Amino acid sequence: MDKLPTHQLEPVVRPRLALTSSFRKLVFGVLFAALSASYFTLVIWEKETTASVPINAAEILQSCKLLDLAPGPPSNFHGRTESDRFEAGTPPTLFKNATIWTGRVDGHEIVKGDLLLDGGIIKAVGDVKEGTLQAYSNLVTVDAKGAWISPGIVDLHSHLGVDSAPALRGASDTNSLKGLVLPWLRSLDGLNTHDDAYRLSISGGVTTANVLPGSADAIGGQAFTIKLRPTSERSSSSMLLEPPYSLNGTHVDPSLPPRWRQMKHACGENPSRVYSGTRMDTIWAFRQGYDTARQIKEKQDQFCAKAARGQWSDIGEFPQDLQWEALVDVLRGRVKVHTHCYEATDLDGIVRLTNEFKFSIAAFHHAHETYLVPDLLKKAYGKTPAIALFATNARYKREAYRGSEFAPRILAEKGLQVVMKSDHPVLNSRHLLNEAQQAHYYGLPANLALASVISTPAKVMGQDHRIGFIKPGYDADIVLWDSHPLALGATPKQVYIDGIAQIKEPFVSKKDSFSQRAPKTPNFDKEASDAVKYDGLPPLEPEKVKSDIVIFTNVSSVHVKRGYEVQEVFSSLNYGKAGVVAIENGEIVCMSGSEPCALHLDSNAQRIDLEGGSISPALVSYGSPLGINHIEGEPSTNDGPVFDPLKTVIPDILGGDGSVIRAVDGLLFSSRDSLLAYRSGVTVGITAPASSGFLSGLSVAFGTGLPHKLAKGAVVQDVTALHVAIGASKPSVSTQIAALRNLLSGRGEGELAARFKDVVKGKLPLVVVVESADIMATLIRLKQEVEEANGETIRLVFAGANEAHLLAKEIGKAGVGVILSPSRPFPGTWKSRRILAGPPLSASTSASLLIANNVTVGVGVEEQWSSRNLRFDVAWAALEADGAISHSQALSLASVNLERLLGISKPIKDLVAVKGGSLLGFEGKVSGIISPSRGSVDLL
Ligand SMILES: *[C@@H]1O[C@H](CO)[C@@H](O)[C@H](O)[C@H]1NC(C)=O
Ligand SMILES: *[C@@H]1O[C@H](CO)[C@@H](O)[C@H](O)[C@H]1NC(C)=O
Ligand SMILES: *[C@@H]1O[C@H](CO)[C@@H](O)[C@H](O)[C@H]1NC(C)=O
Ligand SMILES: *[C@@H]1O[C@H](CO)[C@@H](O)[C@H](O)[C@H]1NC(C)=O
Repeated sequence: MDKLPTHQLEPVVRPRLALTSSFRKLVFGVLFAALSASYFTLVIWEKETTASVPINAAEILQSCKLLDLAPGPPSNFHGRTESDRFEAGTPPTLFKNATIWTGRVDGHEIVKGDLLLDGGIIKAVGDVKEGTLQAYSNLVTVDAKGAWISPGIVDLHSHLGVDSAPALRGASDTNSLKGLVLPWLRSLDGLNTHDDAYRLSISGGVTTANVLPGSADAIGGQAFTIKLRPTSERSSSSMLLEPPYSLNGTHVDPSLPPRWRQMKHACGENPSRVYSGTRMDTIWAFRQGYDTARQIKEKQDQFCAKAARGQWSDIGEFPQDLQWEALVDVLRGRVKVHTHCYEATDLDGIVRLTNEFKFSIAAFHHAHETYLVPDLLKKAYGKTPAIALFATNARYKREAYRGSEFAPRILAEKGLQVVMKSDHPVLNSRHLLNEAQQAHYYGLPANLALASVISTPAKVMGQDHRIGFIKPGYDADIVLWDSHPLALGATPKQVYIDGIAQIKEPFVSKKDSFSQRAPKTPNFDKEASDAVKYDGLPPLEPEKVKSDIVIFTNVSSVHVKRGYEVQEVFSSLNYGKAGVVAIENGEIVCMSGSEPCALHLDSNAQRIDLEGGSISPALVSYGSPLGINHIEGEPSTNDGPVFDPLKTVIPDILGGDGSVIRAVDGLLFSSRDSLLAYRSGVTVGITAPASSGFLSGLSVAFGTGLPHKLAKGAVVQDVTALHVAIGASKPSVSTQIAALRNLLSGRGEGELAARFKDVVKGKLPLVVVVESADIMATLIRLKQEVEEANGETIRLVFAGANEAHLLAKEIGKAGVGVILSPSRPFPGTWKSRRILAGPPLSASTSASLLIANNVTVGVGVEEQWSSRNLRFDVAWAALEADGAISHSQALSLASVNLERLLGISKPIKDLVAVKGGSLLGFEGKVSGIISPSRGSVDLL
């Protein structure tokens, strides 16, 4: 608590008094009850000898008055000339000719001109006068050449530093499991100063993060806001942005208003799961906790009322409890409460709680059903909570099942504040901006989309007096971008925190002029209204075109496969005008204005205007349980995991150790993630059986848009490749390698032995999920060993492969394929920590480096919800490769390359028709799937 006791510490009155020191003990929990009582009695007794009023009555009264003072900056805050975080020696910096997005959303958000930083703060924006500059001798001038500058990105929901990268047992400080209600815990106590992710997230433009405890508990503890810049002190505390004064007992001026505090709450599935309870138990735990805090607060208020009336004789001691002071502060309106809460049921429970105990919620986080119940949210006590969302990460558990990509726009239309957040490391906060970009793609207006990761979270945290805006007097946290921040792949050219450039030698990929403006995004009005109309589950099944002939008009480009190559076969740039593409029974029969097309134009074919859009090969998703899972967190909805022969005895009925499971036998259709993938141009999924051990089994290729396994084209190929994983689970890596060596040497049994024989003969690809370069090197030697013994070439593929770039040359020479999954690396584990970060931290990326070494590279996904984003993932891979990956190559990364690597015997011929733009950009909307194998065109 940062008010009564702390202010009491200020010696407004004469020398230190007994009462003062007793209050200090109250705060810091040392013998507070007994000591303060006796000292107080003593004071009273002393008083009674002279007067009936305690010697420091004025102080007590003043402290009581401060109890309900609202937090915020001191009134003269913007008069500061230097930041409290300023590092001496930082030179002043002037940006000339910048396009500055200031954080405002009122129509005056963009300023063209100059920006001056000094003393860790922003000094001037727009037109910086020559006279102003004459005062600086050591000015660093940056010619922005018209480039975009924004305030630093603010992550409202992060576990940076507490859920650390790489994840190690010794640095796991996200959740305490000591009880449902723990308001006294502080995330700061676990803040690891060595998390690899700080540097990475800064390289994505993130400058501030609100580090929340996890969501295992109803009240998980206090959150702390940090700047990502390490200070010269290098301590956890020195990362804090405006920590509450009470944190370390620092003596503060009682005339200062308190600072905002932050606290984490959670409801719904997580607390229920962790504590084997129910929603009823969680809400009761909240009520019990809040009741305790309310009783303390009421006693405090009674104490102060007595003091105000001059009833000193029986006033007793100031009621306080170190465990509950933070929750009492919530009731005093001095804490920003961040509530992880998804479903209408849970939102309803928390809204009731706020009204019962009279406190307000700063933001509901995750909050996947908020867009369905905006009126409920407005009933919350006090200010309507902001809503902090993921863009497309949904359906991973029941309470996320009705999540919608249209939620940000719907909520904004209903007048709610929208924040996009990372939940880092759930999403890598380096790419938090991409959440705003996706929200924009699905309909959130550009200003609100940018604000959702910059100025809105700053406001929600109560820090908008210093971050989130480019205004004189604000912190000098700014990002100079290589493109418009809402353009796909926008990457910082440089990031400044407290006026200090954070990236030593930034690498910048050339971007085209097209990317210097916000993308003109498609119209999703119908989809957004259907999301609400169908209570979060709008129908996603495609509709088949009735006519045998479909004519796409106003087509600007066509890419198709020639064997395993993607080629551009039509471009309006070369042809001089938009094209026409006629499809008959799912096959392209003619293109552009040629004779047969003209003929078809006269028929009663169905015509579809692509509005300058394009036709491209459809994509293939690999790496997630797409097609064998509906809801990841609900076992009953899924195929389930296989037995692992290195962990358990496989039943005889399966063939014991000779058994090998086929994913085709567990396929399930019409999952929402499959249908959404289909609607995003991913028509085929390749999925291996689910395994958390060494041996997964045989993957299957299936159609994502089909209703059941017996539908035409539903099973594209029964068996595609054999999958194992090395290094992710027990037993030892060397044991797993030994098992693999035995199997490759023909020492297995049954069907497994037969399948490995096919692997050795090069008939069946062997996919090894592996991250570490050390393990990859071992596998390359094993491959050579087996090939020398058998004289045949093994089709080996590394999947995951974060560290593959370290062996790019060797992998190329060994003829091993690589599937990068995720496509943008993250050092999540020790074995995957040596990443090639890409721009601005490195010139090349894993993809560009491996391709340069003649490696066939594919791009995979980790989780099934993200298959829909493959089109953007491959586009992004090309955008950050500085010209080394062409449009056709980008399409290949998630189509032909995956097909070759994963053993698809005939290239998949599906095509995707995209309205208004390309499959690889934010302007295009997938509108049709052309399927030669099914002889049809689907409309979406
Ligand atoms: C600002 O930069 C743009 C892009 O390089 C350039 O076209 C323009 O002339 C510059 N304006 C000024 C005032 O220097
Ligand atoms: C206590 O925290 C404040 C920030 O609130 C800091 O300025 C001060 O140096 C800290 N004092 C100690 C002794 O750590
Ligand atoms: C093609 O679509 C673009 C984008 O909507 C439009 O500007 C153009 O006029 C269209 N051309 C034709 C020939 O319809
Ligand atoms: C890649 O392949 C090309 C064509 O076969 C060859 O010229 C080049 O030297 C190879 N590059 C490497 C790094 O092996």
